[in-house]
Amino acid sequence: METAKLILRGKEYDLPVLEGTEHEVGIDVTALRAKSGAITFDPGYGNTGSCTSTVTFIDGEAGILRYRGYPIEQLAEHSSFVEVCYLLLYGDLPTENQLANFKGELAHHSLIHEDMKKMFEGYPPTAHPMGILGAMVNSLAAFYGDVPYNQDVQLNMIRLLAKMKTIAAFAFKRSKGQPYVYPKNELSFTGDLINMMFSLPTEHYHISPIIEDALDKIFILHADHEQNCSTSTVRMVGSSHANLFATISAGIAALWGPLHGGANQEVITMLEHIKADDCNYRKYIELAKDKNSDFKLMGFGHRVYRNFDPRAKILKEAADRVLNTIGIQDPLLEIAKNLERVALEDPYFVERKLYPNVDFYSGIIYKAMGIPTNMFTVMFALGRLPGWIAQWKEMTADPTLRIYRPRQIYTGEVLRDYTPISERN
Ligand code: ACO
Repeated sequence: METAKLILRGKEYDLPVLEGTEHEVGIDVTALRAKSGAITFDPGYGNTGSCTSTVTFIDGEAGILRYRGYPIEQLAEHSSFVEVCYLLLYGDLPTENQLANFKGELAHHSLIHEDMKKMFEGYPPTAHPMGILGAMVNSLAAFYGDVPYNQDVQLNMIRLLAKMKTIAAFAFKRSKGQPYVYPKNELSFTGDLINMMFSLPTEHYHISPIIEDALDKIFILHADHEQNCSTSTVRMVGSSHANLFATISAGIAALWGPLHGGANQEVITMLEHIKADDCNYRKYIELAKDKNSDFKLMGFGHRVYRNFDPRAKILKEAADRVLNTIGIQDPLLEIAKNLERVALEDPYFVERKLYPNVDFYSGIIYKAMGIPTNMFTVMFALGRLPGWIAQWKEMTADPTLRIYRPRQIYTGEVLRDYTPISERN
């Protein structure tokens, strides 16, 4: 077995070397602390492999993203989101029969318990839908059984995939003060979501195939992204054997943050801010470069992709298609195009390899579709759900799973004695 040598304070340690199927190399340090007393230090886990996984492969330098070996470009062009869900969950593309059964199951389980509707009413209409989504997904455990770890959770995986889009649409309707629209089995997964969000119970609603296709693509592109912040959260929480619903609810909370899934909402907030400031986008480019300001160009940069984000490339084309079809004239979209153009030529952004990421274009598409900004991250969560479930399923099936428990380097006070309050100054 190949090993790496570590010399620490004059002593030599052999550490096993792992190699993945795409030749990624890792040094196994699991026994290091027992052997040497030392831990590895990697704040933010940017250089830490927390698991082995067969779900998604990313090469950030080369701009490669593959689910189960299939390039994202091929999946985005030829498959549907439901097909990708199947691929992520079960490891292979479905046959015609398998896909038909899977679609049937998703349609069959898309209703939520009627009593859950009362819970939506408890929220103020101004409540952020991500808060409602996280709470409702957690609450599914109360309605659909807190299935103990290691029991057959197949049904709850399907339930969650099927019901989360209904929850998302109901949260949207609640914020609009409109009546809920129930799922329709004859519609596609994405068409059904659009119908539940935008139609009224009394009217026939035409779903634009271009919008349906663009949204389906966004979902495919978001479906998994290996060990990102929310997926690592899912694995972290799941490692304690928490139930599936609680575990995914934790992933939703992690995704909500503006440095992660919340960035798509922040993109539009930033564009609106620039619009209100006489559309002076150049000022904000300068501000983003100024080290005395904490302003960042939202929707730019990525921890992993250092050349281009392959998802952003596909979405840029989808965004152009949607905007051309709808024929929308929106000053925000003009500002977005100008920011993109100027930033891509500016040495600050070029040197740091800061390119528009997937959130930059998805935010623009959502805006053109008429989806309010506070629903953007909910859409991201719907897309990421199959990835979270697939990663959780993979982890829980691993017989060697141990609870996630990182170490730390303590830098606080050394031992000191308690002083009575009268003696403190
Ligand atoms: N605007 C201006 N400068 C930036 C930006 C930005 N958006 N992003 C990074 N930089 C600068 C940093 O200040 C740093 O400059 P320095 O080397 O002079 O100190 C350099 O580029 C490297 O950036 P890091 O902070 O090291 O990048 P990191 O990998 O830690 O962060 C992140 C990545 C969080 C995505 C960051 O680029 C960012 O905050 N972007 C804006 C938020 C965003 O769009 N998030 C969505 C990510 S995609 C997703 O979650 C699906």
